[in-house]
Amino acid sequence: MVTVLTGTEQRTAVEHAVRVSHVSKSFAGPAGRQLVLDDITLDVAPGEFVTLLGASGCGKSTLLSLVAGLDAPTAGRITTNGSPALMFQEHALFPWLTAGKNIELALRLRGVRRSERRGRTEELLELVRLQGAYGKRVHELSGGMRQRVALARALAQDSRVLLMDEPFAALDAITRDVLHDELTRIWEETRLSVLFVTHNVREAVRLAQRVLLLSSRPGRVAREWTVGIPQPRRIEDAPVAELSIEITDVLRGEIRRHGRHS
Ligand SMILES: Nc1ncnc2c1ncn2[C@@H]1O[C@H](COP(=O)(O)OP(=O)(O)OP(=O)(O)O)[C@@H](O)[C@H]1O
Ligand SMILES: [Mg+2]
Repeated sequence: MVTVLTGTEQRTAVEHAVRVSHVSKSFAGPAGRQLVLDDITLDVAPGEFVTLLGASGCGKSTLLSLVAGLDAPTAGRITTNGSPALMFQEHALFPWLTAGKNIELALRLRGVRRSERRGRTEELLELVRLQGAYGKRVHELSGGMRQRVALARALAQDSRVLLMDEPFAALDAITRDVLHDELTRIWEETRLSVLFVTHNVREAVRLAQRVLLLSSRPGRVAREWTVGIPQPRRIEDAPVAELSIEITDVLRGEIRRHGRHS
């Protein structure tokens, strides 16, 4: 069950942005029901940046789609502070619209007045450092620029919670690095709560205040690390590398126990 807090309930529920309580999820398959997520409990505090790390197929996207309300848990309860915004590996922009119009559409859907939309879109383009890209069509933009537009569109929803599913996985390392810096800056400016899914350990440590490691088959919260390294971090910083090695060792153990990392 996904409960979106509204009105007085929202005002009193300040201690968490996302709360996942004893959530399990199973799917029907050819060999019967497959338990993908088993008794997951986690919170994201207001303004907190949490990364969810785990091997391929462990259920990260499934968990994120439950938090987004796209699917319902088999058991347990999820509450979020308002409707979360979502961003995926694929930008999912409308190719027949310009960058600006893609963002304006999100503003229109949440009822922003026409007279305000253009100005707000320009502000969002500036926030993701794409000034001047308003009239550009999606095919004229690089992969990194498309993900910036997708981020601006997610921010246009004015949600307090941002859910990200491997949003930079398809980008080259340098572009990804730049977008890590941008995301950290935007998170600090907006104080959004972020739940960010990745299978890249360094990325998880580079970005997060807290890293949650999911085990595989079924997915459970196996370990949790608080990352005290000050921002802005760089992916090649020694403390980032050190913690990444520690987490990778635990992740390897998880993968060995469960057989594969496809
Ligand atoms: N709608 C569905 N119906 C049946 N099985 C599903 C469904 N969605 C996901 N699964 C199964 O649940 C498991 C977890 O999938 P999920 O996509 O959540 O993994 P993931 O951790 O996001 O992996 P990756 O890192 O590769 O993106 C997989 O075994 C997948 O086949
Ligand atoms: Mg996934």
